[in-house]
Amino acid sequence: MHPAALGLRRALRPRVLRPDHIRRYSSQQPGSSIAQLLQWRPPAEVDNVVVNGFVRSVRSMKSRQFVSLGDGSSFAALQALVGTDKAEGLTIGAAVRLTGSWVASPGAGQSHELHVSKVEVLGPSDAKTYPIQKKYQSPEFLRTMPHLRPRTPVNTALLRLRSDAIASLTHFFANRAFTQTHPPIITSSDCEGAGEVFTVAPAGETPDSARKDGDFFRSKKYLTVSTQLHLEALSQAVGNVWTLSPTFRAEKSDTSRHLSEFYMLEAEMAFADDLSVVMDLAEEMLQSLSTSLFGSAVVQELLSRPYHADSGFAPPDEVKRRWEGLMQTSWPRITYTEAIALLEEKADLFTLKPTWGAGLQSEHEKYIAEHVGGGKPVFVTHYPRDMKAFYMREGQLAASPGSDTSSLPGPTVECFDLLVPELCEIAGGSMREHRLEPLLEAMKRHGIINQHSTDAALESGLDWYLDLRRWGSPPHGGFGLGFDRLLCYLSGVQTIRDIVAFPRWVGRCDC
Ligand code: 4AD
Ligand code: MG
Repeated sequence: MHPAALGLRRALRPRVLRPDHIRRYSSQQPGSSIAQLLQWRPPAEVDNVVVNGFVRSVRSMKSRQFVSLGDGSSFAALQALVGTDKAEGLTIGAAVRLTGSWVASPGAGQSHELHVSKVEVLGPSDAKTYPIQKKYQSPEFLRTMPHLRPRTPVNTALLRLRSDAIASLTHFFANRAFTQTHPPIITSSDCEGAGEVFTVAPAGETPDSARKDGDFFRSKKYLTVSTQLHLEALSQAVGNVWTLSPTFRAEKSDTSRHLSEFYMLEAEMAFADDLSVVMDLAEEMLQSLSTSLFGSAVVQELLSRPYHADSGFAPPDEVKRRWEGLMQTSWPRITYTEAIALLEEKADLFTLKPTWGAGLQSEHEKYIAEHVGGGKPVFVTHYPRDMKAFYMREGQLAASPGSDTSSLPGPTVECFDLLVPELCEIAGGSMREHRLEPLLEAMKRHGIINQHSTDAALESGLDWYLDLRRWGSPPHGGFGLGFDRLLCYLSGVQTIRDIVAFPRWVGRCDC
């Protein structure tokens, strides 16, 4: 294993022993989180142990109550025994601080439990109206209250998984001397050219205002659909760069894979001559991430939780296979042309006929991911030029090295989509057209600038992007990974609306 990955693994492993930010109350207490306490098995009873948390459930016995306490640090709850005389206010959902002795538990569910001597109810909760109950609540129901949904144990795990994944990726890029950058959210152009941008304007001002100079920014601005173009500018300053940024798409795709606001991880490599270098980076990044996180507490919690068919999660065995696939090396790489040939052989299986020059439908991507990958993700490269974005470099290589490319129906570009089983595309990348003239030609072809224009730069709003090609533009390339899709894949969450705490999609932006 790479020494950095090993280092990170060590750093992430003790997640259950998070740094203790809150003062410890007992001199022996190992930390303040419930995850830390649950790991603590002192040989003798320890007094004055203090724990903060939220009441998950209360079971009343004759003279005492069994309180199940969670704080988001673990799936497992802490069991606290409270005399009925002290139990007032210990209701489901309440925020409490309990003080007591940490003692070996005679019960089967836990090694130790808290025998409570002092109860402080810091944030009361009306149990009758509290919407998050211990019983099964469907993903659809929980989605109606995104401000409360994060409190369920499984959603706390998803928040911790996201956080650990960001830590791992940050480490990966820092170790390779990639500079982390903050490209802008408000932009002048639609990077992907798909017309799926949201326009930005002050409240009360219509962005289509006839008085252009009255617009806040003096011309139309949008929320970014991808930070790629700005990353390219930054890569011409500091070399290899990356970012994890919010991106926005006004596509009316009401699917389990699309959001209007999502996080995209993007990397751009300066002085990269070849698409394979960019694919290597994407592959190594995901291998490093999966290797460093697989043994972590949160992943093991997610993989070992009980499975219900209607839980909104894929079966744990399948999720485990996904991790194993990601941790393997040498992921298959096939060209789009080869993919179409494979699909044509199985044309009967599909509703839509696979055709060279048309996009791969999700049924096609699913087939490729499952049959070519054998559990590993699959790179599909060199798509037809006319179905891809304007900035992609036209490619010579259209089929496997050595094969005859002269019979191809049309030109292709040096790009890839990274496909995984079930979810299909999780990342896309390309070599960028780094030469001015071919870029201008491509922009004309895509209708971004007028065929006969003499002042192409100004009218496109991409004059600055063309400038990059005027001064010191080396061959370069990069990719964008749908971070929320990746987390769905890693956790088994079946719809992207349940992996994001506050999801936004067409028709829905609740709070
Ligand atoms: O394939 P896309 O559109 O690529 C780009 O935007 C490039 N400019 C990236 C680059 O080269 N720097 O988007 C990248 C990834 C997709 O593969 C997909 O995983 C995710 O972003 N994605 C979405 N995720 C959630 N909701 C949506 N509406 C998404 N659209 C794309
Ligand atoms: Mg794409």
